[in-house]
Amino acid sequence: MIRQAIIPLAGLGTRLLPLTSVFAKELLPINGKPGIEYILDECIDAGIKEVIFIISKKKEMIKNYFHNDAFYNKILKKKKDKRISAEYNKILKYKKIIKFVYQNKPLGTGDAVLKTKKYIKDKYFLMLLPDDLIIKRNCSKDMIKVHKKNKASVMASMKVKKTNVSRWGIYSIKKKINNSNFLISDVVEKPSINDAPSNNAVIGRYILPKEIFEKLKFQKKGRGGEIHITDSIKTLIKDGKTFIGHQFTGKYLDCGTHSGYINSGLEISKL
Ligand code: G1P
Repeated sequence: MIRQAIIPLAGLGTRLLPLTSVFAKELLPINGKPGIEYILDECIDAGIKEVIFIISKKKEMIKNYFHNDAFYNKILKKKKDKRISAEYNKILKYKKIIKFVYQNKPLGTGDAVLKTKKYIKDKYFLMLLPDDLIIKRNCSKDMIKVHKKNKASVMASMKVKKTNVSRWGIYSIKKKINNSNFLISDVVEKPSINDAPSNNAVIGRYILPKEIFEKLKFQKKGRGGEIHITDSIKTLIKDGKTFIGHQFTGKYLDCGTHSGYINSGLEISKL
């Protein structure tokens, strides 16, 4: 059973500067609702019972957003506003399941994951990257089904243009399980066009095994001088761990760039 999810939120958000010099991008509203709430709703709907947020001192705004009880209580005492009360109840629902851990140096996604080591209880856990929204279908829920059936790790994936492979983690296929699930033989972080083994990109949803922590402890810096989760996944695959690429059927929205962020709002407003 997958009961815990982790969300790395300590990234600097350089692609959304200057906004991110003072603001947490994950709180930016997408069609009126903070991006992180879409991710939380996906988790809750997929049966997740605890979500671990990996934040930094600079991103404490995120913690404050979910821990502002005194503020709401004061307002609600003054005026009985149905909308505010409903919003506060929603925040309380999220707050109950969120735990915070800190990654104060932005050393990469792999390093962020390692910070959650002592809190992970089960053999497998879910990781969601907040820049990647997937709408029209609960990708995490579908991946959990694939995990249950195959007792394996799963990564969300989609085909990308050959010219864009260096933006993504790219994997190669060992065997087709069915039309949307593939056994992975290798994965490489942001390869050059010439080095890319395919155009199957990893998108920000992962069901990872607890063993990943043992690899992450010794993980050397990779591309761009960061510690990448992709590099530790590569080692696990080499060791014989099964990883499945799940080609999701929902629509992918990239909210980590200016144009992607604007587009995400437009697409969600059409739902
Ligand atoms: C991260 C991962 C990359 C993956 C991508 C999905 O990159 O390192 O392998 O393909 O997320 O969004 P980032 O977006 O943090 O540069």
